[in-house]
Amino acid sequence: MKKLITQLVVLVSSAVISGSVMAAGGGGAVLDKVYLNMSDKASLQNGAKLFVNYCLSCHSAQYARYNRVAEDLDIPLYRLKENLMFTTDKEGDLMTTTMPPKDAEKWFGVTPPDLTLVARVRNPDWIYTYLRAFYQDDSSPSGWNNSLFENVAMPHAMYELQGVQKLVGKVEADHSAGDAHAAVGDYKIVGDAKFELTHSGIMNPEEFDKAMADLTGFLTYLGEPAQLKRKKLGVYSIVFVLLLMGLCLLLKKEYWRDIH
Ligand code: HEC
Repeated sequence: MKKLITQLVVLVSSAVISGSVMAAGGGGAVLDKVYLNMSDKASLQNGAKLFVNYCLSCHSAQYARYNRVAEDLDIPLYRLKENLMFTTDKEGDLMTTTMPPKDAEKWFGVTPPDLTLVARVRNPDWIYTYLRAFYQDDSSPSGWNNSLFENVAMPHAMYELQGVQKLVGKVEADHSAGDAHAAVGDYKIVGDAKFELTHSGIMNPEEFDKAMADLTGFLTYLGEPAQLKRKKLGVYSIVFVLLLMGLCLLLKKEYWRDIH
């Protein structure tokens, strides 16, 4: 018995440790924490809009269909058509990219990966940090670099929104402490990097952070579309079980009434 208990303790603690190591992700990279609310439809809709306008030209989400996204996110189909779909796409089409993979490889050296499952392969904090960590780097072929993903082949797709930032230096890991809105003087901290905004974009830094949280939320939804329904279903199931328990208690009272 004792042996069994020690084995159990070892098993549970190793599961906890490996879980927290996995949660850190990216081999100890410093990540900003993103707070996602998967029942915030307006945020997911905004994420979907950003995704189609700024990402789908290079990346696909080939396991997702437009009409499923419209249904899940409460986007009326006519709005989806206006805003999200390219004229050639049909409602039930998969969200594929128009860029031929061969050309993409020629242009970027790698084919931009499909993004349907990226939030599960990486994790939401990683994506949120990555999307905000692009900076101007004249020595790179695209003119851009990323402090989380060094020498990345992806150019900054949203510089008109964010503006252009320059890498000033690194900060101590505990300095940023995963605070998504950390700023030191005029500098902005993303992960463990310190940036200076050299040209401002359409959005101010807070608006851009919020937009990137929306986009991260949408990518997280894409990785597991069932989670929107599953959570609702979970609440229904618990209500059902509670009702059933109440009925059983009443029944028990009824059975025992004559005996007492
Ligand atoms: C101009 C083409 C282009 C656009 C537009 C673009 N990307 Fe990329 N993206 C790439 C390429 C190329 C890579 C591969 C980078 C590498 O491996 O060095 C990549 C990599 C990524 C990765 C890392 C995947 C991984 O796990 O390694 C993520 C996440 C990503 N892109 C998200 C986005 C999002 C979100 C958008 C829209 C805001 C976007 N990308 C727009 C070309 C693009």
